[in-house]
Amino acid sequence: SDTVTLGIFGGGTVGGGIVEILANKASYFQQLTGKSIEVKKICVRDASKPRDFEVPEGCSIVTSYDDILTDDSIDLAVEVMGGTTDAKDVVFGALKNGKSVVTANKALIAKDLPEIEALLTSLEDDTQFRYEAAVCGGIPIIRSMQSDFVGDEIKKMSGIINGCTNFMLTAMDRDKKSYDEALSEASALGYAEADPTLDVGGFDARSKLKILMRLAYGIDVDEDEISCRGITELTKIDFEYAKTLGGTIKLLGVAEMSSAGHVSAYVSPCYVTDTDPLSSVNGATNAIEVGSDNLLSSIYIGQGAGRYPTANSCINDIVALAKGDKTPLPFNPSSDVSFANNYESVFF
Ligand code: NAP
Ligand code: HSE
Repeated sequence: SDTVTLGIFGGGTVGGGIVEILANKASYFQQLTGKSIEVKKICVRDASKPRDFEVPEGCSIVTSYDDILTDDSIDLAVEVMGGTTDAKDVVFGALKNGKSVVTANKALIAKDLPEIEALLTSLEDDTQFRYEAAVCGGIPIIRSMQSDFVGDEIKKMSGIINGCTNFMLTAMDRDKKSYDEALSEASALGYAEADPTLDVGGFDARSKLKILMRLAYGIDVDEDEISCRGITELTKIDFEYAKTLGGTIKLLGVAEMSSAGHVSAYVSPCYVTDTDPLSSVNGATNAIEVGSDNLLSSIYIGQGAGRYPTANSCINDIVALAKGDKTPLPFNPSSDVSFANNYESVFF
């Protein structure tokens, strides 16, 4: 067919951005893929809610998952509604019904990626699953992890992998905002999760770290085994101490492999000196440093949250699928890597 038809689950921050970019770049995408990419249905919780984007002509707003899942004319499901229960039904339902899936849902992937991969392997059709937006929003880190380290061995990943909390820490440190002010600004800008506990508790960063660890080391770690501390206990005095010492505080996600092949990992607020490149990564920007045998140190930096950066990653996946690209497999990490967390608490 000369059309790729989309059903989008979610018409919020990310869903709205996807619809807008598809509309603005429609003719370019047609040139690029040889196909017209059309949004046929958008599934939301409340169909009567006003939307901050233009619903495309011919597109219906629906509230039943089956309106998309059982519509045989829909080729591709985009899951940007969040959560791990209904979103799981939607993703599995779409894949089982022969629809490729693009999602930004790190909580779901962190929890269920092995099950999703097993389902994909069992399917006889060519159904694809892509999730570039799930880690570090607009930074193409999933693609890099799946392809750029094929001849390399990753030893360490370390960085700022949650935009909401980095925005908050910047606002608290640089702009002297209170914790509550900083969180409500981050929510208003579309950076926070529907349940912001996931951000401020460090859990969103932990989900992303777990996904990166699977890609880098081929290990599937129980998220609860990754030491996790969020930013909820930070107060003004912590920033003052950090300043006195010549630095600031950043919420970092770190995973490191020892020479014996043991990987340990944590998410925690960390003291970062002013000479460290991470100290000047502010707002919703994310940055992740990958240490590896061949490339030594590679730093990926870019917008980690927000409507257009995140939608941009989903669009890259959608266009890749429209072009017929196959999902790259993760490179083949060494088989004798194991998880042996030895970080109890790393808070300074
Ligand atoms: P959001 O603004 O809260 O939008 C969620 C959308 O999904 C809303 O349109 C909502 O409908 C709909 N929805 C939620 N639960 C539903 C349900 N049970 N049934 C039907 N529709 C439902 O969320 P978002 O920020 O776009 O995030 C979406 C996903 O992207 C999440 O998995 C998030 O982790 C991920 N993500 C977000 C960002 C970001 O910067 N925002 C970045 C990377 C990844 P109503 O509008 O009717 O309420
Ligand atoms: N709430 C997430 C963050 C969205 O702030 O990083 C992007 O994954």
